[in-house]
Amino acid sequence: MKIAIIGGGYVGLVSAACFAEFGVEVAVAETDPSRLNRLLAGEMPIYEPGLEALVASNRAAGRLSFTGALPEAIAGAEAVFIAVGTPSRRGGGHADLTYVFAAAEQVLRALDHPAVLVTKSTVPVGTGRKLAALAAQLRPDLAIEVASNPEFLREGSAIGDFMRPDRVVVGAETEHARTILRALYRPLNLIETPILMTGLETAELIKYAANAFLAMKVTFINEMADLCESVGADVHDVARGMGLDGRIGRKFLHPGPGFGGSCFPKDTLALARIAQDARAPSRLTEAVVAVNEARKAGLGRRIIDAAAIDLRGKRIAILGLAFKPETDDMRDSPAIPAIEALAETGATIIAYDPAAMAAAKPLLPGSIQFAETASQAIAGADLLVVMTEWNEFRALAPARLAQAMPGRVIVDLRNIFDPAAMRAAGFVYHGVGRGS
Ligand code: UGA
Repeated sequence: MKIAIIGGGYVGLVSAACFAEFGVEVAVAETDPSRLNRLLAGEMPIYEPGLEALVASNRAAGRLSFTGALPEAIAGAEAVFIAVGTPSRRGGGHADLTYVFAAAEQVLRALDHPAVLVTKSTVPVGTGRKLAALAAQLRPDLAIEVASNPEFLREGSAIGDFMRPDRVVVGAETEHARTILRALYRPLNLIETPILMTGLETAELIKYAANAFLAMKVTFINEMADLCESVGADVHDVARGMGLDGRIGRKFLHPGPGFGGSCFPKDTLALARIAQDARAPSRLTEAVVAVNEARKAGLGRRIIDAAAIDLRGKRIAILGLAFKPETDDMRDSPAIPAIEALAETGATIIAYDPAAMAAAKPLLPGSIQFAETASQAIAGADLLVVMTEWNEFRALAPARLAQAMPGRVIVDLRNIFDPAAMRAAGFVYHGVGRGS
């Protein structure tokens, strides 16, 4: 089978490489010339463990190709996936569908055979129906079917998530479209992955509902963490005690600085708007958005209060900048507002992140310095702030930290260190929700 994917961004590229690995012939159309050139040169425009090797082996096997010419990509394709960006529209939170409709229109005009047009980008409920109307209007001569196949990939573990998903969701309304999508995911039958067949609107909503629910879990445990600090409870035990109840589940109950990234902030906001427009407001989703924003906006104050020292002229080491580990993604990272606030204190700030420094530089105040290693950032620091839980930071031994840092304060916003061990090494240690 041959398919085309429009957009060689995060979702498009990972999906293309993984479908090719499943044995499908995949052509990716990418309009941005610099991104296309990088792809053609075998360079990955995004940081994702395992992706470069997967792309290289599937290109070598002749199953995966990149082109700037959309008609070439879709020639002979039985399914055309749209995987272009859907940023938040300015001033409102609605997803901006300009790229989705522009891509769909180009595909529809260029098609010379019937095909299934599939949205992989996260699109507002009702978009599939609009695309079907556009197809009927532009190409009444061809039997174009529309399907929705949202992805549930996490940055940093995207390939594993694609190859071993909890489920695949397909919104399609014809047997032919369902058959094509089923065939594409056939290798997953071997691992008994549920393939959920639904209508278009349902599939579109599942994606938003799943992300909003996960964002709500994170936000809930963050609130509980704050409460734990006030009443002297331990949030990890609270999360464990809750999570062992199978109805709740243990995942996504790790407290931290608030959620960021390219998905949760955008999708929770979009769902709140979709629900308002549909006159079925989701007050819970609205609260998740507001509570998380307030948490991120208050991070600087939280750190300054926890440090309880005059930070003027002091040296602050920041470990981690990306919104989570194993990615270089800085979108909506809590590190941005936190560092902006810390920069106002008159302290010298030295930051280190294993992957995100290049992406972070333009987003942070010009006064921020960047270290080449974690050790370099820590050397001479009065205060250490952990923003992202990269594994290499977990390995930092208390004695080594104590040796490198003249100051003795740690604010660990990801709870990666053992409070007792840090206190034994002479540190004033503040985690999240583990008493104070
Ligand atoms: C998320 C979803 O997990 C994916 O299923 C979905 O496909 C993706 O969005 C998307 O819509 O494309 P991602 O944004 O890559 O994936 O990152 P997550 O691992 O879900 O983390 C999101 C945020 O929540 C991060 O800021 C993370 O630090 C935070 N988080 C997560 C916590 O603070 N605590 C947790 O227990 C879990």
